Parts: sequence; structure tokens; C-alpha cells
Amino acid sequence: MEHPRAVILAAGQGKRMQTSLPKVLHLLCGKPLLWYIIQSAKGVTAEQILVIGHGAEQVKSYFGKEFLYVEQRQQLGTGHALQQVLPDLPDRGELLVLCGDTPLLEKEVLERLIRVHRREKAAATVLTARMDDPTGYGRIIRDEQGEIQEITEELHLAAAQKSVQEINTGSYCFDLQALKRYLPSLPQNISKGEYYLTDLLPILLKADLKVCSCEVGDARQALGINDCVQLAWAASRLRERINAALMRDGVIMIDPAATYIDAGVEIGRDTVIYPHTILEGRTKVGENCLLGPETHLIDTLVGDRVTCQKSAVRESILQDGATIGPFAHIRPGSMIGIRAKIGDFVEIKNSLIGPGSKVPHLSYVGDTQMGSSVNMGAGCIVVNYDGRNKHNTSIGEGAFVGCNSNLIAPVRIGKNAFVAAGSTITRDVTPGSLAITRVKQENKEGYGWRFLGKKNEKQQE
Ligand code: UD1
Ligand code: CA
Repeated sequence: MEHPRAVILAAGQGKRMQTSLPKVLHLLCGKPLLWYIIQSAKGVTAEQILVIGHGAEQVKSYFGKEFLYVEQRQQLGTGHALQQVLPDLPDRGELLVLCGDTPLLEKEVLERLIRVHRREKAAATVLTARMDDPTGYGRIIRDEQGEIQEITEELHLAAAQKSVQEINTGSYCFDLQALKRYLPSLPQNISKGEYYLTDLLPILLKADLKVCSCEVGDARQALGINDCVQLAWAASRLRERINAALMRDGVIMIDPAATYIDAGVEIGRDTVIYPHTILEGRTKVGENCLLGPETHLIDTLVGDRVTCQKSAVRESILQDGATIGPFAHIRPGSMIGIRAKIGDFVEIKNSLIGPGSKVPHLSYVGDTQMGSSVNMGAGCIVVNYDGRNKHNTSIGEGAFVGCNSNLIAPVRIGKNAFVAAGSTITRDVTPGSLAITRVKQENKEGYGWRFLGKKNEKQQE
């Protein structure tokens, strides 16, 4: 049997979020809220139609051309949202209707919803869940025989109905023929002025059509996100899933509850992650690495056997065997070569650090091409900015830059050249030579004793 289509309702503003960002664009583990239900829908449906409204342009520009978008200009409720799609739907077949704010529903649950719907030959099948605390959800109201009568929203519940724990997840499977015939006749809810999709069920029942339900086994999957507290709770559930999948593939996490990894980040086996490590965006990590504690990688490619502790790296490449930190900051456009070492309190920006090179302590290196096996002494600074423009520096392989030197860009340090500690280099240094720019040392005899009003060493004897 062919896959049904899916309509995902995502036009609402999300007033209860109290934020300016449209609700479905709030990020969870690096992806918008809406992304998750789309992924689950993709696994079981042939085509996904997104109903958008609030923040429509932002939603479209994030999700791109892969989907069919239908705009609901005024957000008059879930029923009204689905009405907007009717002209684009075929007259027969099945339609999965989902909410954009239920990111935890997994593909398998939707698959089962479709299966139950087909088996029962129903006009509508509602995905339900049993919640310990059903507050805020529409409740499934059944008759004495246990058949669904209607769905009643929290606002309209009679006192006796408040204890009903079976809720509407907002996901349904519909027979298109029934939907096309009866959806246009939805009544407007008097107190809210909205058209509730849930009000379709009594209409179908009245027309002697079959309405069924299918219960989600794990009710936590049914969470609908309406405020920032629920958003954070869902994010932590998604993190658990992401971390569990990685650990099953051989990634070792000292404390998964304190490890924050975005959806889509790849990590090789035998990599060990210490607590308070955050891996974001398009980050990919190889095998046998040691990350953390307190490491933040954004859009970064990490080879095998890399160590990165208490450091931040963005849009850069760390090649095999590189060692970073503790307390290093690697800024965009950098590549740290094979077995290179970037040590504590070092900042690297838009620079290539050659294989085996070392920048171990208290340095800034920017806009620099550094060859292999270079040693930058403690406190060396590449002076790449003259107040107006940035300039490039190159440091040849095997060069040795003594502690606390300044390299005033643009400048080239030749292969195997030496720069004496404390030098300020303003001209190119030829390969194999020593550059030294310090003034000669002079010792003013007796100055200290005089200053301190003490006798000198001989007088003290
Ligand atoms: C809805 C259901 C409720 C269910 C709950 C599950 C109705 C009337 N209520 O309530 O029974 O328990 O979901 O989470 O259907 N939307 C639009 N256009 C609109 C209004 C909403 O596209 O005009 C979209 C929203 O963007 C959202 C989804 O529909 O993704 C659900 O809307 P929301 O306002 O969150 O409904 P709930 O009050 O949670
Ligand atoms: Ca909701």
C-alpha cells in the first residue's frame, strides 16, 4: 500500500511561549521544534505539506523547497488550518495530520497509527495518550461502551471531566473522502472564535462514520510544547535519545546527563567525552578522541586521537593527534595539523598550524600560515591588525620563535629561522638565520641597594 500524505500544522504563533521567535522555530538540540516531527513523518509518508502562518517566511527559508507550503493567513484554529489544505488534497486515500509542536513522537508510533486506521477502516483515527497530568490537553470523552464521543479542550471541560487522563496528542489519520466532505462544515467555537479540528469527530460520528483511537505506549512522546518549560523538558528527552544512540555505537560518556550533543553530530567509537561538553551544528568527531571536560565545539571537524580539554573551537579542523587546551580558543577558519599542540591561554584565528607545531602557552596567532614543527615560545603574539587592516604572517617549517616575541604582520619568518626571545619583528627573517631586536642589557651597579637604603653585600659582611 502506498504511503499516505502528511499535513503538519505549524501556523500558530505560540503565545504561551512568551517569546518573539515563532514557536516552531525554537531550537532543540540544534534543530527547530518543527524539524523533529517532519523527520518522523518523512519515515512514513510520501509527501509533507506544511501549514504555515506566523513567521511564514522564516519557516520557509529554514526548511527550503523540499516541502509544499500552504499559508493560513489568519490563525483561526487547528480545523481552519487544515481547511486551507483541502484544495491541494486528492479525493481518496489517507491523510496523516500532525502538529508542529510535538517533537518527541517517533516514526514507529505514526506507523502504528496508520496501521490501526487501515485495519479499522475508520474515517478518523486519533492518536491518544494517558497522562499522569493531562492539564492543558484536549480530553478524549468516551461513552459507557468505551467508544469515543468527542474531544473536549481543557477550557470547556465540565468539572467531572477534568480527571480524564486520556488526551488527544493532536495527531490523526483521516480518510480523505470523509475529510473532504465534512471538514468544511466545522462549527466556529463560540467562546474562542476558532475552528477546532477536534470538533470534526462528533460530525463524523453523526454521519455514521467510524472514529477510532490508537494509544501511544510511552505517553512522554506525546508532549505538546506550549511554553519554554516544556521546551526545555523536550530538549532533555531528545538529548537522552541522541546520547543513547551514540553510546550504543561505542562512544563513551562519563556523564550523559551533562553532555550536550546536537542532532546530526557524528562521533567515532572509543571517543571519550567528559562532562560539560557541548558539540554543536555540523561537528564531526573521529575515533579515540578525548573531549572535555568543558569543551565547546561548533561546526568543527575533528580527526582521530585528538585531545581537546576546556576549550572552545568554532568552524575549524583539528587533525589527527592534535592536542588542544586546556583553555584554548580556536576561532573560525583554523586548521590545527597532525599532532600539533595548542596549549593553555592560546587564541588561534584563521590560521594554519602545521603538523607537529607547538603553540603551548599564552599566545595569539591570527591570519598565519605556520609550517610543520614550529615552536612558538610562551607569550608570542602575531600582531595581525594595524588598526585598519588585517595582515598575513608566515612562519616556515622548523622555525623557533622565542618567548614573548611580537611578529608585526605582514611578515615572513623563514624555514629553520630563530627569533630571539623578547624580539619585536618588523622585517622578514631569512631562512636559517637568527633575528634579535633587543637592546643590549646594561646593569646599573648598586642601584637596588641605594633605592632600598640598604648596605651593599660587601658592607653587610
Ligand atoms: C491541540 C488540540 C488538543 C490537543 C493538543 C495536543 C485542538 C483544538 N486542540 O491543542 O486537543 O490535546 O493540541 O498537543 O486542536 N495551529 C495552526 N493554526 C492555528 C492554530 C494552531 O497551524 O490556527 C498549529 C500550531 O502551530 C500547533 C498546532 O496547530 O503546531 C496545535 O496548536 P496549539 O494552539 O498548540 O493547540 P493546543 O492548544 O495545544
Ligand atoms: Ca500545542
